[in-house]
Amino acid sequence: MWSIAATRLAALAGPATLPFGATGRSPYLRTSAYAWTSGFYPAALWLMYEHTADATWLERAEEYTERVLPVASWRGTHDLGFMVGLPAGLASRIDPSPQRRTAYLSAQRTAARSLSARWNRNVQALRSSSYAGKWGVIIDSAMNAPLLIEVGQREGGAAGTALVRRGTQHMLTLARAFVRNDGSTRHRLAFNPRTGAVTGPIYGQGLSTASTWARGQSWAVNGFAQSFALTGDARLLTAARRTADYWMSHVQAGCIPAWDLDVTDDAAPRDSSAAAITADGLLILAKSEPDPSRAEVYRTYALATLGTLASAPWTVDGGRGVLQRQAYNVPSDAREGTYAWGDTYLLHALAVTETGAE
Ligand code: GLY
Repeated sequence: MWSIAATRLAALAGPATLPFGATGRSPYLRTSAYAWTSGFYPAALWLMYEHTADATWLERAEEYTERVLPVASWRGTHDLGFMVGLPAGLASRIDPSPQRRTAYLSAQRTAARSLSARWNRNVQALRSSSYAGKWGVIIDSAMNAPLLIEVGQREGGAAGTALVRRGTQHMLTLARAFVRNDGSTRHRLAFNPRTGAVTGPIYGQGLSTASTWARGQSWAVNGFAQSFALTGDARLLTAARRTADYWMSHVQAGCIPAWDLDVTDDAAPRDSSAAAITADGLLILAKSEPDPSRAEVYRTYALATLGTLASAPWTVDGGRGVLQRQAYNVPSDAREGTYAWGDTYLLHALAVTETGAE
């Protein structure tokens, strides 16, 4: 896996822009640092450097991380966890240069403050975006809010405590409003920003507002696992267990789901990225899960998924990215593709099994 990743990631290096992905046979797209996906490639480069200790990867990781750091002060997105929190967090742990590590921590701090500006006390959540003109939150935000908790815990004091509280409350709002009774998740919800009430679901990338979009469920599993690991809050452990258990009861161990967990057609597009994100989340959950038998179930399941993903047709020599057969937005384009997020969470999961570090 690492050797295929080395070839593919080196081939994706290029001037000024950042790899996004390719749908079907379309050209491989690249974006500016201001796309929601910009942090994934730099993050993958840090994982390559950590795995190989090869200075070429360090140089690349530093160069590409530099490209995304200016985004930290941008208040036009909620995706700062993906764009800055993830690569800068890995960089602050892995880069041997103390000066650079300080700069990465500073960028994470700026990103956390920018994200925190989206807080609404009535909703007790960070606004993700405007959906159909409505004040909205998306399940993907489970991967961004942990940045506030991480930075706040590091900073301490009144400002740090406020960040931790906002990040934790956002996750608890997701647990309350997005996680259904059976542990499945909604994709997008509109809220009344003056009363905090849920005003209704907003259709997104799944089959319907009543279905379970596979990657949405995987963002939830991973985000709740991360936030429980950071806070030790029992309510977040419950949310992580419920969303993980729903996944495992709908996707057999070692199998890759369709793009929506309510799709039963074997010929429907798969989303291998959702499988990689969930495997990563389960490995994180297994490390902090207080019940050893549950932890073993999560770890065993995650390893079975990684075993599948490490072979064809999911990972192949000569693919344009690392992980093949990912789904981006099936309702608007039903072709499978290869995208930076799937590559990165696959490598992250492998790294968790090797180093134990998150
Ligand atoms: N955040 C967009 C996606 O997961 O497709």
